[in-house]
Amino acid sequence: MVDDGYAEVVNIDISTVVTEAMQKKYSNRPQLIYMKMDVRDMSAFQTCSFDAVIDKGTLDSLLCGNNSQQNAFKMLKEVWRVLKDKGVYILVTYGAPIYRLHLLRDSCSWTIKLHVIEKLLLGESSEHPKWELTNPLPLDDDESSVGTLLGKNPDVHYIYICTKDDSLKAGLKPEVAVGSGTGT
Ligand SMILES: C[S@@+](CC[C@H](N)C(=O)[O-])C[C@H]1O[C@@H](n2cnc3c(N)ncnc32)[C@H](O)[C@@H]1O
Repeated sequence: MVDDGYAEVVNIDISTVVTEAMQKKYSNRPQLIYMKMDVRDMSAFQTCSFDAVIDKGTLDSLLCGNNSQQNAFKMLKEVWRVLKDKGVYILVTYGAPIYRLHLLRDSCSWTIKLHVIEKLLLGESSEHPKWELTNPLPLDDDESSVGTLLGKNPDVHYIYICTKDDSLKAGLKPEVAVGSGTGT
């Protein structure tokens, strides 16, 4: 992103092993800032302060742990809070719509678009991709349109583009009491 001109990219991780290793690796790129932080409590960041939040694997990792639903909700509400109006939460995940759409929709009033990208082996390139990354898939209320289109167990990563729209008055949805242990 920095090489593409982004002037300030703040990266967080709950592990100092990660933040310190990344800081060292990218010491030649001062535009990259690394901070140890729990994504469920980003109170060090002001409300409505980011244009975009990019998540690859962090929501997934919360969903693999204890109290998965509560932790995922905490994270999503914090992501909503730190985003500016019309800011985007870009979620790159293994989670198919059946596992992610309800979670996203129940957490906050996102406008959601779904894109997919084929899983490739290291060094492999897809000259004729089956799915066009820039074209969102049609989404209906019960995910059946995507299921029908992609078929069973498609070999893809999912990219959910969730836009914060303050005009959708509901904004933050109420906390729900949920148990742990749902799949990823
Ligand atoms: C699957 S890894 C993905 C790392 C990186 N995004 C990537 O794609 O290579 C998930 C990361 O989330 C971090 N993580 C887990 N729980 C977290 C939390 N509550 N707050 C912040 N980071 C967390 C882990 O330390 C780990 O580095």
